[in-house]
Amino acid sequence: MKKLLFLLSVWCCSLCLISAQTRTEFLLEKGWKFARTDNPESYLTGFNDSKWQSVVVPHDWAIYGPFSSKNDMQKVAITQDGQKAAMEHAGRTGGLPFVGVGWYRINFKVPEFNNGKKAAILFDGAMSHARVYLNGKEVGYWPYGYNSFKFDITPYLIEGGENLLAVRLENLTESSRWYPGAGLYRNVHVIVTEDAHIPVWGTQLTTPKITSEFAKVNLKTKVVRPVDSKVDNFRLVTEIKDANNRVVATGEEKLSKYDGDVFEQNLIVNQPKLWDTENPYLYKAVSKLYDGSSLKDEYTTTFGIRSIEIIPGKGFFLNGKLTKFKGVCLHHDLGPLGAAINEAALRRQITILKDMGCNAIRTSHNMPSPEQIKVCDEMGMMVMAESFDEWKIAKCQNGYNHLFDEWAEKDLVNLIHNFRNNPSIVMWSIGNEVPEQGSKGGVKVARFLQDICHREDPTRPVTQGMDNPGAVVNNNFAAIMDVAGFNYRPFKYKESYDKLPQELILGSETASTVSSRGTYKFPVERKAMAVYDDHQSSSYDVEYCSWSNLPEDDFIQHDDLPYCMGEFVWTGFDYLGEPTPYYTNWPSHSSLFGIVDLASLPKDRYYLYRSHWNPTKETLHILPHWNWAGREGEVTPIFVYTNYPSAELFINGKSQGKRTKDMSVTVDNSGDDASMKELKRQKRYRLMWMDTKYESGTVKVVAYDKDGKAVAEKEIHTAGKPHHIELVADRTSLIANGKDLAYVTVKVVDKDGNLCPNVNQLVKIKVKGAGTYRAGANGDPISMDLFHLPQMTLFNGMLTAIVQTTDKAGEIILEATSKDLKNGKVILNSK
Ligand code: GAL
Repeated sequence: MKKLLFLLSVWCCSLCLISAQTRTEFLLEKGWKFARTDNPESYLTGFNDSKWQSVVVPHDWAIYGPFSSKNDMQKVAITQDGQKAAMEHAGRTGGLPFVGVGWYRINFKVPEFNNGKKAAILFDGAMSHARVYLNGKEVGYWPYGYNSFKFDITPYLIEGGENLLAVRLENLTESSRWYPGAGLYRNVHVIVTEDAHIPVWGTQLTTPKITSEFAKVNLKTKVVRPVDSKVDNFRLVTEIKDANNRVVATGEEKLSKYDGDVFEQNLIVNQPKLWDTENPYLYKAVSKLYDGSSLKDEYTTTFGIRSIEIIPGKGFFLNGKLTKFKGVCLHHDLGPLGAAINEAALRRQITILKDMGCNAIRTSHNMPSPEQIKVCDEMGMMVMAESFDEWKIAKCQNGYNHLFDEWAEKDLVNLIHNFRNNPSIVMWSIGNEVPEQGSKGGVKVARFLQDICHREDPTRPVTQGMDNPGAVVNNNFAAIMDVAGFNYRPFKYKESYDKLPQELILGSETASTVSSRGTYKFPVERKAMAVYDDHQSSSYDVEYCSWSNLPEDDFIQHDDLPYCMGEFVWTGFDYLGEPTPYYTNWPSHSSLFGIVDLASLPKDRYYLYRSHWNPTKETLHILPHWNWAGREGEVTPIFVYTNYPSAELFINGKSQGKRTKDMSVTVDNSGDDASMKELKRQKRYRLMWMDTKYESGTVKVVAYDKDGKAVAEKEIHTAGKPHHIELVADRTSLIANGKDLAYVTVKVVDKDGNLCPNVNQLVKIKVKGAGTYRAGANGDPISMDLFHLPQMTLFNGMLTAIVQTTDKAGEIILEATSKDLKNGKVILNSK
């Protein structure tokens, strides 16, 4: 009998394999038609869209420009920034044409949809006010442009035939404080399942107990089953697989009428490999849903085994290890690609940030894309996932305040359901600098939102970015939060800590130092809101906003005060819009806050953070450049950013003296005006020679370790005549999937390879072979050059050209030409 049962189960199993194609998922990428005209008949099946533009999704309709001060010109007073009277903010949202209506249409077939199957459509984000129509019928509406949303399309989908999906999007003027992007800028998925299935975001996986011997994995799986089906016929078989696809745990569970159509399984993984930022180890839970012996669905949940804990007075612990946040805030745009999501671009961002020593990002001020979280899971980057920049009280006239009452809970639930299994996410944020901080009843709204987070995910702490410490430490607003997150004003941390019950302070948003790559201003002085005729800020890293400060004003808090949990710097990368302090100074239209510029080229500041956040890697960076014809004999300070404690500086072989990081500077003895003015805190973190005089030639620095041993040296030289274009690709081996990207740094150098930092001429780019020119950027916040055209003006001698693969493998050749310079050429391989 036993033998017979065994044979029977083998037979059943092979049958399952044959019919294993239980779910089909695909993206709607190619074949879309797009128009900016708002013809109300665009949703009808018979509508003629042959004249519309053909586009590929993800698509950002506004990134192609042209720039204009009239695009979303906002005549407002930004009260958060201390403005009293309305003024014209031209580039606040990037000066790009995102306002208005756009329609998308696509025809597609779903051969798998037959015999009573179910189908869903999932948008990872659509900007904004999406109205979705299938085969001439309205399927649903989702207004918030940053969120993922899904609809059941079973009643609308045609079996066997052609389907027409139409989406109307509309962006309002004065609805954002930065460039939001426009259109179907994230992926659109079609998912076909059996009648009984696991729905979108249908699992919730936690790891409630982790020791070195075992990890307990708790998996809750929702099942949608036909009304006439028998509950106790359903079974869920889950296999946990390690990164090598080896099965490390198995569990089987039957559904009963007491389960509310949710399976709960507890599985044990022995000797678990933990997820952390150094070794982001991922497991998969592969669940098979059976109705009797018939396989109905197969659903994979990717997860990591890791613990997070917040201990009052001590801080944030990842896998039991005290971990300070060395974080950055990021807006969602990808510079010259706009908001259109691209995994290769996200990987590049995280690669650059990790090399800097950054261990966390805050998705300010909205929901991340699934690709961003996937990349963070895979590469080991912690994430604070944020939801809103606005609640009920307006920051922007046409912003989320109109939606809050009806949509806030739905939006928050979708965010959490989408990402609650991802190990990279360590905290939820319910808001950013909401005016409710100081208003009557504001605390109740905060509590309402935090409760939703706790209900949907009891495993992660909740925070928000507060910039009104005077109010929130006295009205419970900060006290009720799991984590009190403060934006700016680090000099208030101590007072807030004394008043609040949590015993911890998070720098949820910090610094807002401003600088332009390769631009230096004299004299070198600490300044708030400095503006110049060229609309740039100094890369000596001494300039900031009226509410903000320099990097060291934050470093010192988190180093000296044990209750400080670390920080999220505003921002990791420059973004489109918010060109503070150039509010009204068109053509300023992108930010100056980034540690890395809009072309994803590191500014000097990058090396300051790297020297502090990644101290085991060598950083030895000299600034400014040394091409100052006309400044001969004038004071031209030199800064060195290094992880070493001291260094000696030489100009043309003459010693300028040795500097050592001044560890006698503390948070308590350096906060007064005089100390600020004389850059006292900076002396603890940077090496500064304030009196050096310019003479052309060589600047050399020799670094010493703590024992006084010379351990490293670096030189920069005055560049000679511009000679040729040097091209450096971040990756030369690419994937032939029509999406992969290589970022090629374009530099003008002299005959010896020294950067010519004063060359600002046009470069033309040609791409041949198995790739196309995707976009370029130079990092200049006032550049009017269009990102997608294969030509761009250099900014301080550099720019970035982005190449995209096609579907065909082969060689890609990028050539760059510019007047009076020898061409540059680079060959990439797409496989
Ligand atoms: C903060 C705000 C950010 C950005 C930043 C610029 O107050 O949260 O979105 O505006 O200021 O410094």
